[in-house]
Amino acid sequence: MTDRQTDPPRRLRLNAFTMNVVSHIVQGQWTRPDTRQRDYTSLQPWVELAGLLERGRFDAVFFADVVGAYDVFEGSRDAAVRNAVQFPVNDPSALIPAMALVTEHLGLAFTLSILQEHPFSFARRATTLDHLTDGRVGWNVVTSYLENAARNLGYGGLPLHDTRYDRGDEYLDVLYKLWEGSWEDDAVVDDRERGMYADPAKVHEIGHRGRYYDVVGPHLSEPSRQRTPVLFQAGSSERGREFAARHAEATFIAARNVRGARANVDDLHERLLRNGRRPEDLLVFQGLTVITAATEEEALRKEREVQEQLSDEGTFAVVSGWLGADLGAVDPDAPVGDLRTNAQEGIIKALVESAPDHTWRFKDLVKSIANQRIVGTAERVADELQEWHEDGGIDGVNLTYTTTPGSFRDFIDGVVPVLQERGIVQREYREGTFREKLFDGRVGPRLPDRHPAAQYRRGVGATVPVRRGPQADREVQAAGAAD
Ligand SMILES: Cc1cc2nc3c(=O)[nH]c(=O)nc-3n(C[C@H](O)[C@H](O)[C@H](O)COP(=O)(O)O)c2cc1C
Repeated sequence: MTDRQTDPPRRLRLNAFTMNVVSHIVQGQWTRPDTRQRDYTSLQPWVELAGLLERGRFDAVFFADVVGAYDVFEGSRDAAVRNAVQFPVNDPSALIPAMALVTEHLGLAFTLSILQEHPFSFARRATTLDHLTDGRVGWNVVTSYLENAARNLGYGGLPLHDTRYDRGDEYLDVLYKLWEGSWEDDAVVDDRERGMYADPAKVHEIGHRGRYYDVVGPHLSEPSRQRTPVLFQAGSSERGREFAARHAEATFIAARNVRGARANVDDLHERLLRNGRRPEDLLVFQGLTVITAATEEEALRKEREVQEQLSDEGTFAVVSGWLGADLGAVDPDAPVGDLRTNAQEGIIKALVESAPDHTWRFKDLVKSIANQRIVGTAERVADELQEWHEDGGIDGVNLTYTTTPGSFRDFIDGVVPVLQERGIVQREYREGTFREKLFDGRVGPRLPDRHPAAQYRRGVGATVPVRRGPQADREVQAAGAAD
């Protein structure tokens, strides 16, 4: 425990959590006159949001995403469609270039499921975005949880929970080989006199032959500043945490309280050490909703407004999707712990961790999810965030909105100055890529050498001895033969 006592105050990172939809997490608010959720198909509200977040010295905008409809509640998608619950949903990555154009420092993180796109084509899309943003892209790696999504993408049904993560491991290995190993650092020579743009001897096939993917390569794109976008991950089940400890630089959790966050953070730190990484290699972001105003009375009045507008049907639709359980059919008094789900196991684990001796029932879960908010003046909100930060051990917050951009503006005008005064959040951005900013210069633009992706680096960039197993040797020989 010494580390936490002696280290300079850890900085709390701030991400704006949003989605390219009408209604994201707090359901029912889209009908209000003071929110721009219904304008999601226009660029204007997004570029304005980017400017606002950079003014607030936020680390990033963080886009959630799904590729299927919520059709679990009452066995149909009707409730989700009526309430615009993450449906319709547009592609979040399409917003990134425009948001980058109007900002200089803001990180731009988007979610993409490993079920959604072949890793070879995703590799190019991510590198293209990292080029266009000059190294400010982050990717939230998820394995999906909606049956409808898997059936849209030709899987016939949602693959088993842990199998999705197995596929995710290989998906990332293919990407690491393309992003880190296919082009040597000095492959691009851009020699107009000799008429040579890149040196063919320094651009390599990857020859990946795996259980889920066969990819010859080379990567279509020349390396971007970060090569590998900042790797976020969301999913806090047993298998999800193993996945985060192996791959992620930041993980997004949904602990129910400070105690639950502490348990999750400590668990992740142990797993990191077992994976040859360090606790400081993984930043933990907690999802939180804040309602703030100049006075307690005003903040409580705003919360009552949210509560009055809250759509129970919308909430049931989204939570049923997360759980993979029809909340319209389960007994609200039934214990949640008995649920066996192929969707998000992490939600139940988070619930149990928040009060291990308590028997949680479905009605408690819905209430806890629908009502988890920090409400109050800027001082009070800052106190609570400091508790999550210092006692819960979180490194950052994924701030959920009730109205947009209002929730973010209130937080930036009210809470951020208090947190800056206390030295908890940044006043200025440092130079460099998203990775360098997020880790306060403790790492460079590229993934650190102790990250598993580094094993695929070649040529001058390869600073670590290449760890190759028999399979990799065969691949390299095959690649060598193919070159
Ligand atoms: C806080 C949080 C946010 C998530 N956001 C998304 C998302 O935007 N899109 C998505 O498909 N899955 C999302 N997931 C779920 C992941 O897809 C996850 O890999 C999968 O559901 C399994 O989760 P588990 O490891 O918690 O069981 C999220 C999970 C958590 C905990």
